[in-house]
Amino acid sequence: MSARKIIIDTDPGQDDAVAILTALASPDDLDVLGITAVAGNVPLSLTARNARIVCELAGRTDVPVYAGCDAPLTRKLVTAEHVHGKTGLDGPVLPEPTMTLADGHAVDFIIETLRREEPGTVTLCPLGPLTNIATAFERAPDVAERVQEIVLMGGAYFEVGNITPTAEFNIYVDPEAADIVFKSGAPIIVHPLDVTHKALVTRDRNDAFRALGTPVGTAVAEMTDFFERFDKEKYGSLGAPLHDPCVTAYLLEPELFSGRHINVEIETTSELTRGMTVADWWGVTDRPANAIFIGDLDADGFFALLTERLSRL
Ligand code: BDR
Ligand code: CA
Repeated sequence: MSARKIIIDTDPGQDDAVAILTALASPDDLDVLGITAVAGNVPLSLTARNARIVCELAGRTDVPVYAGCDAPLTRKLVTAEHVHGKTGLDGPVLPEPTMTLADGHAVDFIIETLRREEPGTVTLCPLGPLTNIATAFERAPDVAERVQEIVLMGGAYFEVGNITPTAEFNIYVDPEAADIVFKSGAPIIVHPLDVTHKALVTRDRNDAFRALGTPVGTAVAEMTDFFERFDKEKYGSLGAPLHDPCVTAYLLEPELFSGRHINVEIETTSELTRGMTVADWWGVTDRPANAIFIGDLDADGFFALLTERLSRL
């Protein structure tokens, strides 16, 4: 079978970086057509920089990196330096990128790619706020139905929220964009905090990354060393949750994950619960299912997969 065509839409972020590295390490399975940067964890200038640093770390300067939207559709940007550090990629010391950004806007790249490729053959992998994807769907209403799947990290149901008591960061930052995407009709697979908070980098798991003895293994171990302090202090958890790598691991080994096909709506009007993913996990409404909402994973299998793939770089 030929490699699955994907576009990674991202706001790196240490966990985004691990997700991107895993995809770039798997060219027989995943054909990364491009990486589109969006404002999120840190402002756009830094996410566009960090995406290129990650490509260079992987030795994949052939993958085009596009800069996209620098602010949510209607709201002021909220960032997460308190989690990811000033650069978004704090932890390892990595060189400034030498590869340049690809010409053009990320949203145009998304639209043009979906129009150029056969319908149903391109998967979108959003790892940050959904601003770029929603802008593409608004600007080009013909493209949503050409998407194979949208496999995204965002939202929460049982875990409720991380940036507010009721909202997960990616959805909270741009709830209007999330609302557009969840209503788009494209097949959606959601990796919420419910699953990503089970993908914890314990000491042994981080030692396994470090033991790869490669620049990639060392950088990933140092990124999680930095990133884990936040969740350890806040949740008393065993280590950093690798949120975004759930998306790329799902593309490689979907059988590691389980979830339900349910209705998911986005709260956009309440200030108190802004960005909440109202997930009908128990099927108590007759609202139509619009997403597969992942709830669990085989964590050991997940880390074995990541470690093996990263060893290829
Ligand atoms: C999500 O928000 C960001 O901080 C992470 O990169 C991840 O995409 C988790 O809520
Ligand atoms: Ca992210």
